[in-house]
Amino acid sequence: MTTPNPETNGPVAAPDERLWDAPTEPSPVSPVFDELTRRRTEEIVARYPQSRSALLPLLHLVQSVEGFVSPDGIRYCAEALELTTAEVSAVATFYTMYKRTPCGEHLVSVCTNTLCAVLGGDDIYARLKAKLGVGHEGTAGEPGSPGSITLEHAECLAACDLGPVLQVNYEFFDNQTVASAETLVDALARGEKPHPTRGAPLTDLRTVSLELAGIFPDLERSVEGASTSVETMRGASLAADRGWTAPSMPDTPPAFPTLEKKP
Ligand code: FES
Repeated sequence: MTTPNPETNGPVAAPDERLWDAPTEPSPVSPVFDELTRRRTEEIVARYPQSRSALLPLLHLVQSVEGFVSPDGIRYCAEALELTTAEVSAVATFYTMYKRTPCGEHLVSVCTNTLCAVLGGDDIYARLKAKLGVGHEGTAGEPGSPGSITLEHAECLAACDLGPVLQVNYEFFDNQTVASAETLVDALARGEKPHPTRGAPLTDLRTVSLELAGIFPDLERSVEGASTSVETMRGASLAADRGWTAPSMPDTPPAFPTLEKKP
């Protein structure tokens, strides 16, 4: 499938340069995956009846260690889960949350899907792109260093009622303008961590990757902050004001229809 590219209004061209080579086997796994990472790996794998089910969180764990998923990270997951590197690569390259090049301290994702785009998301993305001097998935500053920022345009972030939105490390900044987005990025570059509109306080991409792996060094902090907004609850409050209700579920749900057995 061809993805529309808001930078050119055309389809994304095949890259001239290969950014990421699938690893060849066998090869020693990088020592960057230390004892602590191995213990965390065992903890994650133990959560699943089948070890291969741990692949998605394990890729987030790898990203929390390296700041992206490198060929070594692919090898590490393959070894831990007794999969081939081809199987792990197939998954890691499918999901956009797994990054194939080293990322900044912060990941700024600007929604450029239809609703946000017409409300100003395209202008926000274009301005940040010019300001940071990078394109999609480009990093301003030394990857991983304080104040470094990776920029990306994102598909619908499921907050259309608050558009245009952007996320920093997957935390929401709602109702943005070009000016507010610039102010936000300036603050990030100075090493500040402005509080998101909703959700937990801002940390950094590696910490959030660790949380996405299901490891919470500070659980209380990771889940504090409201996750809803007045706009999102508007339908529910209107219904409450007007006394509208949906039919309640019967105490005994209707039986499932009998299905014919597959031959
Ligand atoms: S279109 Fe931007 S959040 Fe849905």
